[in-house]
Amino acid sequence: MILVTGGAGFIGANFVLDWLASNDESVVNVDKLTYAGNLENLASLQGDARHVFVQADIGDSAVISALLQQHQPRVVINFAAESHVDRSIHGPEDFIQTNVVGTFRLLEAVRAYWNELEHEAKSSFRFLHVSTDEVYGTLSPTEPAFTEDHNYEPNSPYSASKAASDHLVRAWHHTYGLPVLTTNCSNNYGPLHFPEKLIPLMIVNALAGKPLPIYGDGMQVRDWLYVRDHCSAIRRVLEAGKLGETYNVGGWNEKANIDIVKTVCALLDELRPRGDGLSYAEQITYVTDRPGHDRRYAIDARKLERELGWKPAETFETGIRKTVQWYLDNPQWVQNVQSGSYRDWLQKQYAAKAST
Ligand code: NAD
Ligand code: TYD
Repeated sequence: MILVTGGAGFIGANFVLDWLASNDESVVNVDKLTYAGNLENLASLQGDARHVFVQADIGDSAVISALLQQHQPRVVINFAAESHVDRSIHGPEDFIQTNVVGTFRLLEAVRAYWNELEHEAKSSFRFLHVSTDEVYGTLSPTEPAFTEDHNYEPNSPYSASKAASDHLVRAWHHTYGLPVLTTNCSNNYGPLHFPEKLIPLMIVNALAGKPLPIYGDGMQVRDWLYVRDHCSAIRRVLEAGKLGETYNVGGWNEKANIDIVKTVCALLDELRPRGDGLSYAEQITYVTDRPGHDRRYAIDARKLERELGWKPAETFETGIRKTVQWYLDNPQWVQNVQSGSYRDWLQKQYAAKAST
């Protein structure tokens, strides 16, 4: 069986669902269930004996060690993290605790477990660490996309904490021989995305008749990757990745934020027109920029294509249509995640942002 951490969050849950849809190998899913963890994402697995959910912190060494002993996974995939840049600006502590200290403790627990494995199990074991393109810092409009050799130049508390975790993973391979793989992916989007991030926030706010807040001039560029393409890349790296290597995963979809939001509005205009006949784009509002906002991220995913034959299956046009449709089809999911703590976050983050 395999063990994943953070499997009740956006990418982790998509990964677990995809894995069990195409594979009979069981999954132990360890998640602390922070505000971002949602068991409803895994509701379709209720009663499925191949999925074992355990609420625990990756930093709880005793629990993690016991789970490794009990389940003897052949793979550990680390999705668990604090993942939202804006939250890291308001309160970096949780990011250091989970992304740095948590990853360190997880690595130590896994190392102790791996050391005791028999020869064959030991050589086939893999620890895959899921990271981000944000560790590479920011690009000017004309610079080439990030390759795996780009310097680490993180600019936010979030990206700095992920960079630290990547360095730990690298060092555990180099020093202790732990069989690790690291993936650095671009911005994911798709079903089950928590509506504090750009695309789901815009869909949810548009439908609720609320402003669509664009930070700064809206010309920041991100490279969008459909979440299920990310999941297939992880499966491929697990199968065939070279130990100790990192692989960049991207969608070849560089878009400015304002264009993303206009695309979402146009799709909603088509699929769920506003009652007054006006476009949802009327709700676009420019607000104060994020401090230290990275201007551009872009992933060069050619290594993964060249060495492991992976390519994304979705274009942005197909992926964003599926995504908007998913939110239209799942109003109950959206309503359920809009808890008191979600509303508190919106108040804290956007009430102080002046319109510009
Ligand atoms: P998410 O915030 O939606 O989910 C994170 C999950 O981790 C949640 O279920 C949460 O409960 C769990 N978690 C948090 N702290 C934990 C802890 N201490 N112990 C155990 N579980 C804990 O994040 P996501 O978007 O699914 O991201 C998953 C991974 O992918 C993260 O490592 C993130 O840095 C990375 N990543 C995400 C993106 C993106 O666009 N979403 C892009 C690049 C990289
Ligand atoms: P986000 O989804 O938070 O991802 P990241 O910061 O990890 O790239 O934001 C994506 C882009 O959208 C980023 O440039 C910030 C911008 N943004 C807005 O303009 N308005 C918003 O309300 C949010 C949440 C993000």
